Amino acid sequence: MKKFVMYGIFALAAGQACAAGDTIKVGMLAEMSGTFADFGLQMTNGAKAYMKQHGDIVAGKKIELIVKDTTGPAPDVAKRLAQELVVKDGVDFLAGFGLTPNAFAVAPISTEAKKPTIIMNAATSAITTKSPYIARVSFTLAQVTEPMAQWAYKSGLRKIYTVVADYGPGHDAEQTFKKTFTKLGGEVVGELRVPLKNPEFGPFVQRVKDSKPQAIFVFVPAGELAVGFMKAYDERGLAKAGIKLLSTGDVTDDSVIDALGDGALGVISTHQYSAAHVSPENKAFLAAYAKVDAKTRPNFMAVGGYDGMAAIYEVVRQLKGNVDGDKAMQVLKGLKINSPRGPIQIDADTRDIVQNVYVREVKKVDGKLYNVEFETINAVKDPGK
Ligand code: DHB
Repeated sequence: MKKFVMYGIFALAAGQACAAGDTIKVGMLAEMSGTFADFGLQMTNGAKAYMKQHGDIVAGKKIELIVKDTTGPAPDVAKRLAQELVVKDGVDFLAGFGLTPNAFAVAPISTEAKKPTIIMNAATSAITTKSPYIARVSFTLAQVTEPMAQWAYKSGLRKIYTVVADYGPGHDAEQTFKKTFTKLGGEVVGELRVPLKNPEFGPFVQRVKDSKPQAIFVFVPAGELAVGFMKAYDERGLAKAGIKLLSTGDVTDDSVIDALGDGALGVISTHQYSAAHVSPENKAFLAAYAKVDAKTRPNFMAVGGYDGMAAIYEVVRQLKGNVDGDKAMQVLKGLKINSPRGPIQIDADTRDIVQNVYVREVKKVDGKLYNVEFETINAVKDPGK
């Protein structure tokens, strides 16, 4: 019964959207306030940078961005806002999603309303399996963690402790690291999961130190948590104790890397984007981003916002402005984009992203900390499928 009512509302909304005529509406659900406010800032800045660079008219239609604040990991809020975007605003696309729980919550709405939904960050592998109308332009934790485990083994490390945030992407990172590293012959000597909300890193990090592993592998979401973890790693003297730090790029994320301080020098991470990536596409992206926000350095979430808009523009272009959910998904499946991070493709079977993963080291470039890429693993698919 509930399903029927929902469908009725969405059918009405679809009619209103058509009546809107000359506008294509993109409803962005993003974390614009609270602990994760930087996620929303980065994703919306990235989307705006693309629009600034390419104009806001595509196939004769004006592209309109409508941003709604999910306030943090808040599935109920995300769901309510997605319903509003579909029903009241009559959006043609849903997009955004910094955090996994918000993406999971909206998947049933994408399916029922047949709304193409572009994941610009949320990185748990299973997200794209939750609706045939979801496509991802960001990454998955499994995708960047597998190369990290391989690099660790190749560099001679054999005993590693893992520390992850206790939710979807953290679980994916933990499992992928263990599976890959142990298969090669390494040993995971301990595993810790830290809460997503207000974690106290000191005692966790002390436990790792006391067990004397050769290295620690970490995933926590970018931003404040990463800063908190690095502070504890410094204060508890793990580097001095010879415990090397390996992480996904979230921990050494461009938007906070300066705040990590020189303690971060030498940290090895794997990820899909570094602001220090050398390419004409990245140069153009950095310039476009600076015109939107000269105060922050763009990170991988900004690139997700930027590439997400590139995907949306291509759908609108190919469908000549007549956006339909099923046809939009046909365009998205197999779509290739020359991203600021390198070439990317949306896998036609899984609607997940295929991209290069880079191994990077934190170094000083012109006096500032950057993730300097030194190895590339080409065209990596999500191993979590
Ligand atoms: C999520 C994943 C990330 O890599 C990150 O930095 C923040 C959030 C997520 O899927 O929730």
